[in-house]
Amino acid sequence: AGPERPGGALAGGAAGATTWTGRHPRPTGLLAEVTYRCPLHCAYCSNPVQLAAYRAELTTAEWTGVLDQARAAGVLQVHLSGGEPLLRPDLPELVRHASSLGMYTNLVTSGIPLTAARLAALATAGLDHLQLSIQDATADAADRVAGGRFHDRKLAAAALVTTLGIPFTVNVVLHAGNTDRLAGIAELAVALGADRLELAHTQYYGWGLRNRAALMPTHEQVERAAAAAADVHRRHGDRIEIVYVEPDYHTGRAKPCMNGWGSRQLVVAPNGDLLPCLAAGQLGLPTPSARTTDLADAWQHSALFNAFRGTAWMTEPCRSCALRDADLGGCRCQAFQLTGDAAATDPACHLSPHHDRVRGAAGTPVRLPAVPRRSR
Ligand code: SF4
Ligand code: FES
Repeated sequence: AGPERPGGALAGGAAGATTWTGRHPRPTGLLAEVTYRCPLHCAYCSNPVQLAAYRAELTTAEWTGVLDQARAAGVLQVHLSGGEPLLRPDLPELVRHASSLGMYTNLVTSGIPLTAARLAALATAGLDHLQLSIQDATADAADRVAGGRFHDRKLAAAALVTTLGIPFTVNVVLHAGNTDRLAGIAELAVALGADRLELAHTQYYGWGLRNRAALMPTHEQVERAAAAAADVHRRHGDRIEIVYVEPDYHTGRAKPCMNGWGSRQLVVAPNGDLLPCLAAGQLGLPTPSARTTDLADAWQHSALFNAFRGTAWMTEPCRSCALRDADLGGCRCQAFQLTGDAAATDPACHLSPHHDRVRGAAGTPVRLPAVPRRSR
């Protein structure tokens, strides 16, 4: 199959064909969400709840066109994600194409379904790294969250990955149901031979936001999780890199989401929507499509990518805050979800006038960090 528009945005695009004349720095990372289809049903999934708009997935030729344009725009790393990217039969072809352009390729996967032959094809295509999600330390607990008998198949997938010597990260989303088993989860990642372990508390988007009440850990659980993360780091930090991502609902601090809007990374949704972050589709702003718009053009000139760049869009209290260049006012999508205003201060920040919406959901008082104020 060829591009839907042979003369359009995806038709040209050999690497290096675009001369960079834009005023914004080039993007360096691309999150390619090749499908939202997935065999798992995790309650914390951050993908959009309304999936009908994403069923018309980009074809293989359209994706290779996106990769050409991304490389020409400056992208060095491609994260092939979803949904479950292994459900795309053309995944090895996409990896091979990205590799041939000199890009670092990372597969973000549940490991379902993964066979030895499929993994070998991906390795031959040039796959550089793999991120494997694990739901919990034990099969029963993990399978309850994933909605099926998947855990043992994931362990088998990890064994295939280590056999082929592909560097890999174990990714774990933490929530009320598994934070107290953090140590056991870390032991499992070590036993699987992972190079890196990422323990990240749930981000409340998509299904995660809908299921927030059930997923939200208590303040005491979060304190225990932080202590357990420090402990496993002490015990295993010489063998495995361990990254622990705190929950912004409990810290009182906003996270610098995507390292800044339209700053370093972009997302291409399964239907070709070009987005500054995973959840930006819900903001209701006009969304450029890879089917009709050149990726670099969207990055540079579209209203969506320019909506929250830098700090000029900020309102108080961010505008006069000393931390505004560090956390960039937090997450625009979380601000929109919780206040209806994407330009508001992220309610995760304890200085937000809407912070009670986060504190109320977290159920317990947070420890307020000392935040210096910028003098005007
Ligand atoms: Fe960050 Fe300050 Fe805005 Fe809070 S008020 S989100 S600390 S910039
Ligand atoms: Fe959109 Fe954070 S998810 S800015």
